[in-house]
Amino acid sequence: GPRVTPSVLADMKHAGRPIVMVTAYDYPGALAAEKAGVDVVLVGDSAAMTVLGHPDTNQVTVDEMLMLTAAVRRGLQGPMLIGDLPYGSYEESDQLAVATARRFVDEAGCDAVKLEGGGPTSVSRARAVIGAGIPVMGHVGLTPQSAAELGGFRAQGTTAAGARRVADEALALQAAGCFSIVFEAIPAALSEAVMPQMGAVVVGIGAGGAVDGQVLVFHDLLGLSSGGSARFVKRYAELGKQTVDALRDYAADVRKRAYPGPEHCYRIKAEELATFLA
Ligand code: KIV
Ligand code: NA
Repeated sequence: GPRVTPSVLADMKHAGRPIVMVTAYDYPGALAAEKAGVDVVLVGDSAAMTVLGHPDTNQVTVDEMLMLTAAVRRGLQGPMLIGDLPYGSYEESDQLAVATARRFVDEAGCDAVKLEGGGPTSVSRARAVIGAGIPVMGHVGLTPQSAAELGGFRAQGTTAAGARRVADEALALQAAGCFSIVFEAIPAALSEAVMPQMGAVVVGIGAGGAVDGQVLVFHDLLGLSSGGSARFVKRYAELGKQTVDALRDYAADVRKRAYPGPEHCYRIKAEELATFLA
């Protein structure tokens, strides 16, 4: 079908049709998301951990994100492609935010960008990028780029004051014109309380079922990530284990000369070989 746009997502929200979003970081991941029929693909700065091996999201650079995002673009037709502005690439000024967002559109083919936080700085950056004609997805609750200030990787909005803050940030991002907002790791009851005020499309991750859609990290849902995972992760496969098993089988075959078999070998005509050997 045609490319998913912000207005397609708004229509889905109003029709009560849940929106499916997943991250991807490379061409095969994009092809899989496309074939599975997801609505939105985010090249998350979670790439820092999932594919680049860093301990947190804040190590990944704009250039690295652009390389990964361009690869995803080459595998994607229908779903909306969102680029995640990494730590340090937009906070300093509205001008920097616009310039970085433009690179994600011009150099990597993004349909929209995502940035974190709903405080005055993030709201100003979102407004500036939207003013430059680039749709922005906001992100509130547990925002990994500022996890240190939030007291680590823990649910947000779990006190009255915390809940007020998450709600106010979501409303401020919405007022700035964000077409969509991610709610991450907040109580399901807080999402439920805020949703009646949300005209923007809300995509949740650890935010319960009252939101307009869900997002999960590719490597988490496929069982490809190492280490412990958050409460909200549901594993739909164990590809990490399958991958190691396959590599072990391959190694064993090579070591006992069971691979390659005759069916994996190329042939030369007998007369050609005889001439060569002569
Ligand atoms: O980087 C990421 O993967 C994200 C999603 C979890 C929303 O920001
Ligand atoms: Na992110």
